[in-house]
Formats: sequence, structure tokens, C-alpha cells
Amino acid sequence: MARKIAFINYKGGVGKTSLLVNVAACLAKLGKRVLLLDLDTQSNASIWLLRLERWNKINSNGEGAVFSIFDPGKTRLKDILVKDVVEGKTGEKLLPGLDLIPTTFNLVNLEDEFEDDPVKPAYLLFSEELRELEDDYDFVLFDCPPNILRACQCGVFCANEVYAPANPDALSLIGFTLLVEKLQRFHKLSASFRTAQMGPPAAVQGIIFNSIKAGVDIEVPKMRMQLRMNQFKTQRRVASSAKIFETQVRDATIVRRAVALGLPVILVGQETVETDNVLNDFRRLSLEIIKQGELL
Ligand SMILES: Nc1ncnc2c1ncn2[C@@H]1O[C@H](COP(=O)(O)OP(=O)(O)OP(=O)(O)O)[C@@H](O)[C@H]1O
Ligand SMILES: [Mg+2]
Repeated sequence: MARKIAFINYKGGVGKTSLLVNVAACLAKLGKRVLLLDLDTQSNASIWLLRLERWNKINSNGEGAVFSIFDPGKTRLKDILVKDVVEGKTGEKLLPGLDLIPTTFNLVNLEDEFEDDPVKPAYLLFSEELRELEDDYDFVLFDCPPNILRACQCGVFCANEVYAPANPDALSLIGFTLLVEKLQRFHKLSASFRTAQMGPPAAVQGIIFNSIKAGVDIEVPKMRMQLRMNQFKTQRRVASSAKIFETQVRDATIVRRAVALGLPVILVGQETVETDNVLNDFRRLSLEIIKQGELL
């Protein structure tokens, strides 16, 4: 059974997409079958992995992106799957095992124009579609926006685990606190639609510190985050196995450049010490996520 994982924090720009794309790539390199689902209308993960030319085609015709499945009877999730998404300049497959369900800017329509069916809300329809695909994977990873509105609810409803990327600052702590509140609210709202087959509702399993600058001491923000996590554990609002990940991902120029190159860092192949270090961070983080699965 696939592990279904959402990366969310109510604070934007903390590195949700960067961590998710790079972890997805490391997992695929380890031979895991990985499906990345882009549920953020900004489409950052899709533009990154498809590169602009391929993504533009989907964005301009409005088809082939996740929003199409909410148009009744039109498209199935499995029809828009991009297999082995990472390609080289001449179309050669660079990373077999990493598939993408892309999004485009029209996903924003789900938040306003779309009329939800109270009998079958968008997240329920989405979960039924995903069920047709998920057995083909070891990991299904949801890239989420910094909120739990309709698009994100699709991922949260299907996921069993949530990881919260964070920067070592006060706003990430506020974002994490808000995340736990909103997650609980959504679980209450959607409880009647859950089936035993879906497994437990997504619980926060971990916090991952990202973009750590060299020489910066993060002990104080880390301690504050740990205190908040402990409170939530006592209140049973996060998983009992939830933790702050040992792996901290360093701030590295290559993470920003990788987006423009249309490659995850593991495929960039530039051997500088900074690149090697951050790549090791992503590898260790992936192994830690695999290990966290043994505690579930
Ligand atoms: N470890 C890192 N080192 C250097 N830059 C990073 C690192 N992680 C993320 N960034 C940069 O920080 C910016 C925000 O990252 P990212 O888009 O992954 O955040 P996000 O949480 O997904 O944002 P949003 O809330 O908008 O979806 C990007 O420009 C990204 O390249
Ligand atoms: Mg993002």
C-alpha cells in the first residue's frame, strides 16, 4: 500500500515544494515508485519538473491538469498522469519511477467558480480517482499551498501523513500552529466521508527545518518548535511518533538554480561542496521519511 504524504505549513515560502520535489527524486533514485501530485495553483512543482515548454502546452489548452477531473465526465486522474516526468533536452527519460499529476493556474477555479456537491465534495471525488492509481506506487506525495482550502483538501483527505517544512523563525511556528488547528477542523468536517479502507486521517508526523544558513544557530527556534510539538502531543493533536527531523536542509544556491534547470538537485550533477552537502541532506531526509514509516 502506498504511503500518502502531504507537505504543508500555513507559512508560505518555507520550502514545501523544494523539499517535496527533491525528496521525490531521491526516493525514485532509490528504486521507489513515486507519484507527485501538484495541488498548488501556483504550479511550481509542475513548471519545475515539466519545464516551461511542456507545462505551457497544458496551461494554454486547459486540459491535462488536475482541475479537469472536476469537470464531470470529462477527464480521469489516470488520463493526465505524466509518466517518468523528468526529461533531458532531447526528451530522454532521466528519472524512471517519478511520475507527476500536473496542475496549471486554472486550479484556482476550484476555490471560487466551482460549486461543491454536498453529497460528493471535491475531495471525495478526487480520492475515488486516486484509488485507481495509488496501488502502482510506494509513495504518493502531495505538494500543497499554504492553506487547507479545496485544492489542498483533496490531498489532506487522501493522505495519512503530514510533514511540515519550516524555517527557523517565529512565522513558521505560527504557521505550524495554524496548520494543526485547520487540519483538525477539516478532519471533523470530512469524517463522515471516510471509509475504513482509507486508513487513519492525516496526522502531523514531523517538522523539517529547511534553508539553514551556514553559521546560524537555530537552537532557540528549534526548542520553541519542540515545545509546541510536545504540547500538541499531550493534547493528541499530532501523531505520538511526531518529531522534529534530525536532518536539517541547508540553504544552497543550487536549490534555487535547480528550478530554472528543470531538474531535481540529484540530477544537476555539479560537484561543488555546497551542492554535495545539500544533496546529502535531501538523501538523508528521504531515508528518515522511509524510517518514520516503520513507526506508523
Ligand atoms: N534549501 C534551500 N536553499 C536555498 N533556497 C531554497 C531552499 N529551499 C527553498 N529555497 C528557495 O526558497 C524559495 C521558496 O521555496 P519553495 O517554493 O519550495 O517554498 P514553498 O513553501 O513551496 O512556497 P509556497 O508556499 O509559495 O508554495 C524558492 O525560491 C526556493 O528556491
Ligand atoms: Mg510551494
